[in-house]
Amino acid sequence: MKKSRVLTGVTPSGIPHLGNYVGAIRPAIQASLNPQVESFLFLSDYHALIKCHEPEKVYASTQAVAATWLACGLDPERTTFYRQSDVPEVMELNWILTCNTAKGLMNRAHAYKAAVQDNAEKGQQDLDHGIEMGLFCYPMLMTADILMFNADKVPVGRDQIQHLEMARDIAGRFNHRYKPLFTLPEAQVDDNVETLLGLDGRKMSKSYGNTIPLFETEKRLQKAVNKIVTNLKQPGEPKQPNESPLFAIYKAFASEAETQAFTNMLAEGLAWGEAKKILAAKINDELAEKRERFAQLTSQPAIIEDILQAGAIKARSQAQPLLAAVRDAVGIRSLK
Ligand code: ADP
Ligand code: TRP
Repeated sequence: MKKSRVLTGVTPSGIPHLGNYVGAIRPAIQASLNPQVESFLFLSDYHALIKCHEPEKVYASTQAVAATWLACGLDPERTTFYRQSDVPEVMELNWILTCNTAKGLMNRAHAYKAAVQDNAEKGQQDLDHGIEMGLFCYPMLMTADILMFNADKVPVGRDQIQHLEMARDIAGRFNHRYKPLFTLPEAQVDDNVETLLGLDGRKMSKSYGNTIPLFETEKRLQKAVNKIVTNLKQPGEPKQPNESPLFAIYKAFASEAETQAFTNMLAEGLAWGEAKKILAAKINDELAEKRERFAQLTSQPAIIEDILQAGAIKARSQAQPLLAAVRDAVGIRSLK
């Protein structure tokens, strides 16, 4: 049976948090353990330049995101684990696809439309004010990432579904115009994974500064958990799961039976302070060992670099024959 190809990227534009872990990193690593799956997991560092123009932040985040994947159990032997910028074939494919994609398709991308809308709301005359080409072309580069490895399934958060539709459109047009070289990829969105809320009750996101970083010390983890919003209910008063984001975080780390027991304790009047202690201990149980591995890895960046370089060799050996076929299909050929 042909193995199914699963591919996903995480952009190194900040420090990974609990939402990234339960929403993307943990499920992608689980999928990579299935022997019927061939997985491609990568750091989308060229994507980081779209939103981050601070070189030191991109650099530090690249190390943190790579160490996070490895500390969480990614096995570089069974996975192709690489850094996007180490696979130049992706950028070549990006250009060839750009020359075969309607500008109108990019006009409809959510990230670009949101930036235009923002300008309109601020009363800007020029609706493209401050918008760079990287943001406009972002779905193109993501398409090249995916098609370069002919991925079947792409596990992503809901915000990325539109990009997968665009990747299918772009692949379909190329296949029709030249030669059927590309697989049409599918988004894989996990219905069971809730979007975790952050300390302030909005979506936990690097962009809102409301995150619980994944690898805090135990003490700082408890401190961060203590900041999660709750209401004014006193110890002894019954509480509902939906009264604080802390419940969904607990659920993401606990078994069904533990979640039920926690629900009962809240209904029986568990104090919020106690609930926060239970939550921090639960998160700590799952992350303590990984945190140690993370600390070890970050103190040896050369080891991470070697792993990424070995991954790039594997990735390029897959990318090169497909890129050669694509170049040939569009007429870029040797004269000999
Ligand atoms: P951020 O919003 O923090 O910048 P990214 O856009 O880099 O996060 O997302 C990386 C991955 O983590 C995506 O696949 C996304 O679905 C997942 N993710 C991000 N925030 C959350 C969250 N709060 N809950 C669940 N998954 C999340
Ligand atoms: N754009 C994705 C994000 O912000 C990251 C990403 C880049 C990606 N290239 C990809 C995800 C290819 C899946 C497939 O979360």
